Amino acid sequence: MFKLRNAFLATTLFALLGSAGAQVDAKYPGVGRTATQKEVAAWDIDVRPDFKGLPAGSGSVALGQDIWEAKCALCHGIFGESGEVFSPLVGGVAPQDITNGRVANLRNADFPWRTTFMKVATVSTIWDYINRATPWTAPKSLTTEEVYAVLAFLLHLNGIVPDSFTLSDANIREVQSRMPNRNGMTTRHALWSGSEFGSYNKPDTHNVACMKKCAPEAKLASFLPEFARNAHGNLVEQNRVVGVQHGATPASPPTPEADASSSADKTGLGLLQKNGCTVCHGVSNKIVGPAFTDVAKMHAGKAEYLAGKIKFGGSGIWGPIPMPAQTVSEVDARTIAAWLASGAGN
Ligand code: HEC
Ligand code: HEC
Repeated sequence: MFKLRNAFLATTLFALLGSAGAQVDAKYPGVGRTATQKEVAAWDIDVRPDFKGLPAGSGSVALGQDIWEAKCALCHGIFGESGEVFSPLVGGVAPQDITNGRVANLRNADFPWRTTFMKVATVSTIWDYINRATPWTAPKSLTTEEVYAVLAFLLHLNGIVPDSFTLSDANIREVQSRMPNRNGMTTRHALWSGSEFGSYNKPDTHNVACMKKCAPEAKLASFLPEFARNAHGNLVEQNRVVGVQHGATPASPPTPEADASSSADKTGLGLLQKNGCTVCHGVSNKIVGPAFTDVAKMHAGKAEYLAGKIKFGGSGIWGPIPMPAQTVSEVDARTIAAWLASGAGN
């Protein structure tokens, strides 16, 4: 059985790597083509716990701080401590944890929150995530040096490296040996039988099938519960512009598509989505930035001022979180500004 599975994996991998490309084409004539090496390389960016896949490079805490303040602090806080848009990344780690490789606060029921660095066991995971998914508004836009640097800064904020530190592919293993929760992860479970995880070849759940006096079977359904409906603002407005999308509006449950298109007509929503504004602004609700209806009230008639703010960003009007300068065309900036100045659809 396992020999069979391994043999199957080996042939599939072989085919994927392209060595058996001709065969693939012959088997499904006219369907697709073998991916080029460049295409495979563009997808193949994962960095593994053994650092396979990690590009060579380096970045300093000092550079990381500049990047952090320009591109990350607005959502995660100057010190990575903010719980405003996501759980804090930094905090809850003690020097003793770096020695032990277990974060004591995870076992402290009185400690109020869980931060990323309290939980994560492998530094490669954070490297990979920053490289792949940040900043939220422009994933994959950081250079290799910037990824090293911003990670170095986060490590410094967590007390894992000094402020003079430069993180690189040469010293990242030493950093791994200082990760506060490096021994906090268990592989004492498996999803299938076999010996990949030593002798732990069973799942870590112990449920057994109920044979008598069983509870009535649960009914499975997929819906947004009432309490969650407005928890993260208007999800329709926040969908990224990747083609036709579906979502539920907070106000009226049943017909999301109809809602989305009718409010799009009234508000110029398409333009806001196209320019990524709705990641941070709801039309009528605050997310990271203020609701557009509130902006419209405060700056009624001031189209010129608003166009400037949209292009160059600003801070201090609505709270401590700055609005970064936006990459937006002159025409779009003026159209949105005019829409805001005349009441944001109201
Ligand atoms: C517009 C807001 C925003 C900006 C800007 C932003 N992030 Fe995030 N970040 C988030 C949100 C929201 C999540 C959670 C995403 C999820 O889980 O789907 C997140 C998740 C993360 C995580 C994963 C944490 C975990 O425990 O899973 C890391 C690491 C991170 N961000 C780093 C960065 C870095 C570094 C930058 C700057 C280069 C950045 N972020 C910029 C909003 C933002
Ligand atoms: C990464 C999050 C983010 C994105 C993306 C973003 N904004 Fe903002 N915006 C903010 C924040 C935060 C503020 C509040 C700044 C302040 O207090 O001065 C703000 C404020 C504003 C204001 C009010 C400025 C003032 O002086 O009162 C306008 C207008 C605005 N944004 C328009 C836009 C438009 C249009 C887009 C898209 C092209 C956009 N924003 C994209 C976060 C963002």
